[in-house]
Amino acid sequence: MKSSEFLYVANWKMQIPFKKAISFCWNHKDGLESLSSQENVRVVLCPSFDALHLIAQVFINSSLSVGAQNCAAHESGPYTGEVSARSISDIGCEFCILGHSERRSHFLETDELVSKKLQQVLKHGLHPIVCVGETKKQFDAQQTKSVIEAQVSSVCKVVQDAAPDGTVCIAYEPVWAIGTGLVANNQQIEAVFSQIRSIANKMAPNARIILLYGGSVNDQNAQQLKQVADIGGFLIGGASLDFQKFEKIVT
Ligand code: PGA
Repeated sequence: MKSSEFLYVANWKMQIPFKKAISFCWNHKDGLESLSSQENVRVVLCPSFDALHLIAQVFINSSLSVGAQNCAAHESGPYTGEVSARSISDIGCEFCILGHSERRSHFLETDELVSKKLQQVLKHGLHPIVCVGETKKQFDAQQTKSVIEAQVSSVCKVVQDAAPDGTVCIAYEPVWAIGTGLVANNQQIEAVFSQIRSIANKMAPNARIILLYGGSVNDQNAQQLKQVADIGGFLIGGASLDFQKFEKIVT
């Protein structure tokens, strides 16, 4: 990954069933590839597990990258229903989202579990995109700083132990902004980014940390959000499901 690249990560969640996901990719193959081949742009598509291998094949020799939305905390073994980081890497993915707030809330993922997954992802040479962010309740109680401190410290500890020179994307996604149409303002994001930067500088000084913002990014607010100091990309849910909207965000 080049340091000048701005990442546009499309998190399709479980929104597009297999056949539709494949036709989306074939219908917009040229468009997606030309978006991703712009200078200093990298598009990363994160479909659900069923479509990952095929989509990785569709874009095999292009500048577009493919990522998983989750992975197992273990190397291999009797873990019914899980998919290992090794398999994700074997099928041609380069990225893996970890610790998304939907996984933290619906699947009870803790920082400890996210750390184990992060170890696997780093071990198998994938670029992790670790999501952090406070809930509405925590925001209202002015706990953003302490939430970020705990989540980011846990990430940096693993990075320093497992891949001190590694590249890690940390996506600040305030939970109250995900899928709600509410967006954190540039100052709020900058405050959290500088907190993350200072934790990382102390705990994992040689790692390359790329800061992303996610939470209701759309074609109306993307230009404004691109002005945030130190921003390295977006994690985009809803607006990535519509090619025209996604295209407007990227261009
Ligand atoms: P959203 O989702 O863009 O629909 O708010 C972002 C995310 O959950 O990663």
